[in-house]
Amino acid sequence: MMSRMILNVQDPELYTIIQKETKRQREVLEMIPSENYTSKAVREAVSSVFINKYAEGQVGKRFYQGNRVVDELEALCKKRALSLFGLSESAWEVNVQALSGSPANLAVVSALVLPGETIMAMYLPDGGHLSHGWQLPSKKVTLASKIWNVVFYKVDRKTRVFDYDAIEREARSVHPKLIISGGTAYPREINHKRMGEIAGHVGAYYLADIAHEAGLVASGLNTSPFPYADAVTMTTHKTLRGPRGALVFTRHTPKHVKSTQGTEDLAERVNQAIFPGLQGGPHEHTIAGIAVALAEAMQPSFKTYSRQVIVNAKILADAFVKARFDVVSGGTDKHLVLLDLRSVKTSAWIAAWALEYADIVVNRNTVPYETGSSFYPSGIRMGTPAVTTRGMKEKEMKAVARWMIEILGEVAQYEIPEDKGERQAYLRKVRSELSSNSRLRTIGKAVKTLTKQFPVP
Ligand SMILES: Cc1ncc(COP(=O)(O)O)c(C=O)c1O
Repeated sequence: MMSRMILNVQDPELYTIIQKETKRQREVLEMIPSENYTSKAVREAVSSVFINKYAEGQVGKRFYQGNRVVDELEALCKKRALSLFGLSESAWEVNVQALSGSPANLAVVSALVLPGETIMAMYLPDGGHLSHGWQLPSKKVTLASKIWNVVFYKVDRKTRVFDYDAIEREARSVHPKLIISGGTAYPREINHKRMGEIAGHVGAYYLADIAHEAGLVASGLNTSPFPYADAVTMTTHKTLRGPRGALVFTRHTPKHVKSTQGTEDLAERVNQAIFPGLQGGPHEHTIAGIAVALAEAMQPSFKTYSRQVIVNAKILADAFVKARFDVVSGGTDKHLVLLDLRSVKTSAWIAAWALEYADIVVNRNTVPYETGSSFYPSGIRMGTPAVTTRGMKEKEMKAVARWMIEILGEVAQYEIPEDKGERQAYLRKVRSELSSNSRLRTIGKAVKTLTKQFPVP
C-alpha cells in the first residue's frame, strides 16, 4: 500500500497505467492458457530488495561479493523445486536462473547439441513452441533454427494427436541428437514414456518442455516426464502460478546417451550454458517469487486447484463439442482447449476481437494442418488456470461456454478478404461494428457481473 502511494505521487502517469491494467485484469475473463494470477505473497517477494542484487554464478561460487543471503535464497528455491517434483539431489540438478522459458530451452539445446547437428521438435502449427527451433521453408525465424538442423514431427491428420510410431520412424531416419516434446497448444498429454523410449532407440537426449502443464504435473494430475527425460524445462508462470520465469532440471548422468564429452556432468554443462553461456546476472527477485510459488504448490489446496483447472477445461471442451464445434483432438486432458474454426467458417482473428469486446480474452492460434498464417490463423485457444484461481467452477464455465458460443455465432457472417489491399480497411470496419454490437455489450455486462463475484488475489 505504501509503495503504491509513493508511485502515485512520484510517477502518476505510470501509476495510472498500472491502475488501468489492474482494473482490466479484474474485470475480464482471462482465458489465455499461459496466464494466471499470482498470489500477493508471490508479488511481494518479486518486489523485494533482491531486485537490487547482482549474483552471477552458482550457490557458493559467485563472481560478485555480498551474496551470502542470495545463496540462502537460491538454495531454498532449488530445494523446493526438487522436492515439489519428488527428485533427489544426487540424480538431478535444478537451475532456477533462466530468465524465461525460451532462454531455458535455448540453453539446454546449446548444452547438449553441437552447432549443425539435428534436433527433432514438435511442429508449431500442431501446438509446438517457437523456442524449439521454429523456421519457415523460406526463413530461419528463431536463433535455434539458425544454429541447428531442426526436423519437426507432426500430429496425425485425422486424430490430431501424436502417432508415436511415426515419430520413431522419423527419428530413425534423421538421427537427432536431441528430441524435444512440449506444446503451447497441444490439449492432450504427451506420452513421455514412449518419447523416452524413442530417444533411447536412436541414442538421443530427451528434453521434455512442460511449460504449460508444470502445475498439473506437480499436482500428480498429468504424467511426470522425469522418469523418462534427460532434461525438463518449465515456465513458472502458467499452471504453476508463479512469477514469469523458468526452471531447468537436468540429470547428472544422461539416461539415453553416453556423454560425448567423457564423464562430464550433464547438469554442469546446462548450468554453464545458462551462465555464462547465455545470461549474465540472474533475477534474484524473480527467484524469490518462484520460491514462494513452489511452496504454495506443495499445499494440498494447490492440488484441489489443479484438479478444478482440468475439470473446468473439460466442461468448456464438452460444451463446444455438443455445439458441434471442431474441438482439436475432441477434448482436453489439461487446462487448455483448442477450437478449429474452419468448420464453422469463422475467422479466428475476428472471433478473438469479438470475444474481447465482451471482455472474454482468448488467443487466436494456429491449428494442425493450418491453412492460414500465424497472424490470421484458423483457431482459438482458451484455458482455465486464471479463472480457476478466481474460484470459478462448473456452473460458471457452463455460462462462459454459452456466451462464447453465442458470440462465435454472432461473427460467423464475417469473412476476411483474400486481397491484402482490402484487408486492413475491412478489419477496421469489422472492429468498429463489433465495438458497438449490442449483443456483445450485453454479454460483456454479464461478464462484469460474474467477475465481480470472483475477486482476483
Ligand atoms: C511449451 C512452451 N515452451 C516455452 C515457452 C516460452 O516461455 P517464455 O514465454 O517464458 O519464453 C512457452 C510459452 O508459452 C511454451 O508454451
